[in-house]
Amino acid sequence: MVEFLLPANSRVGKGKEHKAPAGVTNIRKFKIYRYDPDSGQNPRVDTFEVDMDNCGPMVLDALNKIKNEIDPTLTFRRSCREGVCGSCAMNIGDTWHGTNTLACTKPIADLKGDISIYPLPHMPVIKDLVPDLTVPYAQYASIEPWLQVITPPPTDAERTQSIEEREMLDGLWECVLCFSCQTSCPSYWWNSDRYLGPAVLLQAYRWIADSRDEFAGERLDNLEDPFRLYRCHTIMNCTATCPKGLNPGKAIAEIKMALAKRR
Ligand code: F3S
Ligand code: FES
Repeated sequence: MVEFLLPANSRVGKGKEHKAPAGVTNIRKFKIYRYDPDSGQNPRVDTFEVDMDNCGPMVLDALNKIKNEIDPTLTFRRSCREGVCGSCAMNIGDTWHGTNTLACTKPIADLKGDISIYPLPHMPVIKDLVPDLTVPYAQYASIEPWLQVITPPPTDAERTQSIEEREMLDGLWECVLCFSCQTSCPSYWWNSDRYLGPAVLLQAYRWIADSRDEFAGERLDNLEDPFRLYRCHTIMNCTATCPKGLNPGKAIAEIKMALAKRR
């Protein structure tokens, strides 16, 4: 059973204010969740004034600027800075609303007023904006996300697919496993120890839909469970939040349909 340390809770205190240098006029304020479990202190929200005349256009650019120039202890994950590694997922909001998304592809100009940045919701926090993803990665491993076959490959060619068979994977292969959808799903919040969640189920369907894979039946057997699959109640937060524009809710519906058809 996972112990949840909820980031946005009543224990979050007011943190430090980092003012922009004198003379800077084009300022945006970033309110960033800070938490170091080893410190024994409650979480806090620090405010950083950032000089936008000397900052790149994306939220990740601002985070890098803050870490490089203002507070080197600010901790977050990032790698590719172009939306393909999935590591910079966090909850980013403005005066109007917040959503789980990738910091590297989120333009600052799309956000109005002060910008709030929190870790992905309802996950244990390792430090600041870094969630502990041990559980979703174990769930991902449980769906055995690799090609499984009995038939040996042709000796003189790769395993081939028709254009139509390959198109069945569109909308699935693009998932970068950022877990924005996973951590937006209320059903996953309350049952994450037993419900696989939208990211993992989309990945499961990616292999069920692959014409080259010969274990679709076993994969469906593995999912047919009141919690692993059927805790999805079609809430659709997952699809609304996906920063890659994918539709995990539809992938889950396809799995349910495949199970219904074979009854
Ligand atoms: Fe959750 Fe998406 Fe289903 S938000 S309940 S996984 S449709
Ligand atoms: Fe790789 Fe954002 S840094 S997706």
